[in-house]
Amino acid sequence: MTAASKSHDLVVFGATSFVGQILTRYLYEEFGLGSRLRWAIAGRSKAKLEELRKSLGRRAAKLPIIVADAGDDDALGAMCRATSAVASTVGPYSLYGEPLIRACVESGTDYCDLTGEPQWVRRMLQKYEAAARKSGARIVHCCGFDSIPSDLGVHFLQREARAKFGQPCNRIKMRVKAASGGFSGGTVASALNAFREASADPEMRRELANPYSLCPKGHGSKTRQPNVKFAEYDADFKGWVAPFVMAAPNVRIVHRTNALSGNAYGAGFQYDEAVLAGPGLRGRAVALAISAGLGAFAVAAAITPVRAALERFVLPAPGEGPSPEAQEKGFFDLRFLGKTADGRVIRAKVTGQGDPGYGSTSKMLGQAAALLALDLPRSRVKGGFWTPATIFGDTLIERLEEHADVDFNLLED
Ligand SMILES: NC(=O)c1ccc[n+]([C@@H]2O[C@H](COP(=O)([O-])OP(=O)(O)OC[C@H]3O[C@@H](n4cnc5c(N)ncnc54)[C@H](OP(=O)(O)O)[C@@H]3O)[C@@H](O)[C@H]2O)c1
Repeated sequence: MTAASKSHDLVVFGATSFVGQILTRYLYEEFGLGSRLRWAIAGRSKAKLEELRKSLGRRAAKLPIIVADAGDDDALGAMCRATSAVASTVGPYSLYGEPLIRACVESGTDYCDLTGEPQWVRRMLQKYEAAARKSGARIVHCCGFDSIPSDLGVHFLQREARAKFGQPCNRIKMRVKAASGGFSGGTVASALNAFREASADPEMRRELANPYSLCPKGHGSKTRQPNVKFAEYDADFKGWVAPFVMAAPNVRIVHRTNALSGNAYGAGFQYDEAVLAGPGLRGRAVALAISAGLGAFAVAAAITPVRAALERFVLPAPGEGPSPEAQEKGFFDLRFLGKTADGRVIRAKVTGQGDPGYGSTSKMLGQAAALLALDLPRSRVKGGFWTPATIFGDTLIERLEEHADVDFNLLED
């Protein structure tokens, strides 16, 4: 079936989720309902989908609705056959995501999502990568705050390093200089589910410790990777750093990008992520507090009754998340420092307006999904499991700068 013969270019699956509603509003503002992007919203509840459509205003009455449960293979198959691409916000993906991946792969439909669950991405790769290559489905995980700014930030810095020095950096650090935002119930549910799976499965714990776990077989990188696990001093940034909660998916996606690009960053490429806590005694105290807080959360989430109490009484429930004001006021500022093998240094920043996990994430996913649905001819981009940088590269950087309030800039020394 050709793209033109399909009813839709893009279907937003999980449009009624916390982040799906923001994405739906963003796509409506950006693309309207004209012929530029023929899109539809989908989910398990017709009533909720109708309510969401109504909230967009009378002119949105023609936005098509598709009802499909994440576990209903027939409904998912029909949905996939009717569209060129699907963007899914139905998570935790390790609980609900596999049948949709299977349906996309079987029907040759493109797919992107917001997962930050590397253990699930690895399972999907193992089971469906060969079939996706055969059917032509382009699958792109991690198209939100994890991992687009990291993956494209490194891609951008390496592009600039090659232009300036004639070689890529063999060591890059990403440091979160500042960020303001909140968590939704869906994100919390995904994180708690990862702890639940890891505490029950020693093989998964081993896999989670492997920074190359998403790289294809024979990727050739054996270099030991740096990893900020506790408070430490970072001389390059002249301050203290602490672990970054999203480093696990981001680091693995960046290494997969390197492997899929034939080790374009070098076989010995090293990459890590951390949060900048600042200089001096105050910076040290903040870094220690962040490290201790994350450690305490990890321990609490691994203990079944404590995890249940956290879910029930403390953390946001599915469907809940930061207020519209908080989403609006949110932002992020990520700093990248790269060094070449002969010691030359290059710096960049990636900044975004809007809550990183929601306002900004919805725009990133929206632009990635539209690009996937409209602008990547199958003759040029083959089926398989891609990363944001390998499939979208510079084009997505341009779109994010123009339409999503995300900026990529080199910094002077
Ligand atoms: N990468 C990032 O930066 C980033 C940022 C934000 C969120 N996320 C991820 O995105 C996902 C969504 O987060 P959220 O906070 O928006 O979640 P949420 O509000 O809890 O929404 C979950 C969605 O899944 C749907 N759902 C659950 N079971 C289903 C089923 N059997 N069939 C069809 N739909 C089903 C729900 O449908 P109903 O509406 O009908 O209940 C709802 O739309 C999570 O996995 C989260 O971790 C990632």
